[in-house]
Amino acid sequence: MIGMRMIETKNYQEMSRKAAGLIGGQVLLKPDCVLGLATGSSPIGTYDLLAKGCEEGLLDFSQVRTVNLDEYCGLKAADPQSYRYFMDTHLFDRVNINKENTFLPSGTAPDMEAEAQRYEALVRSMGGADLQLLGIGHNGHIGFNEPADHFPAAVHQVQLTESTIRANSRLFDKIEDVPTTAITMGIGLIMLARKILLIAGADKRAIVEEAFYGKITPQVPASILQLHPDVTVILAKE
Ligand code: GLP
Repeated sequence: MIGMRMIETKNYQEMSRKAAGLIGGQVLLKPDCVLGLATGSSPIGTYDLLAKGCEEGLLDFSQVRTVNLDEYCGLKAADPQSYRYFMDTHLFDRVNINKENTFLPSGTAPDMEAEAQRYEALVRSMGGADLQLLGIGHNGHIGFNEPADHFPAAVHQVQLTESTIRANSRLFDKIEDVPTTAITMGIGLIMLARKILLIAGADKRAIVEEAFYGKITPQVPASILQLHPDVTVILAKE
């Protein structure tokens, strides 16, 4: 492992506190930083604490820019299941960020290939993320980079696996409502981030161990992070 720190915390709350501390520290050190952000249940507690930090006047997001990992295809921004909606409600509407500085790939662009190229170029023009927050899927996916026979480098449209659709269906009324495709940053933009912060609940211990102590393989997409020079993993014990 080149530069991995594994922090085990007692529970989800402590994981969230540590993650918010590291992200808040990044914002304090570099007020005009680029934060790479993620969706899912894992970062909700972290976002709550960042919002609290801003409310209390400890954190200032006025110069921060954000780039998100991914978005479902076919869901409009106003759809409560879209990742844009998730980010607005869990973080952006609760801090003093300029919404025009918050970026996600569009899931409703008429030409997905063009949208993928646009988003790749946009994030590169910003120099990549100073800090990229990641969750991890039970199958080792990061963003929506699903297990495959190669590591997809660029932003791309992806067919979601059965297991991801099933896992994410808990947030939808019925499984048929879960989009079957998404647009995601590839491994290239994720690895471009200066620092990576991966957070995982106790239910992810097995896949975290496989990803960080097992062999590097596109069948476990997160395993590529073993090659990143600055990764912090926060794993909750319960
Ligand atoms: C989703 C997201 C990922 C996220 C993962 C885990 O499908 N695209 O970015 O990390 O699944 O989600 P959760 O934190 O809800 O377990």
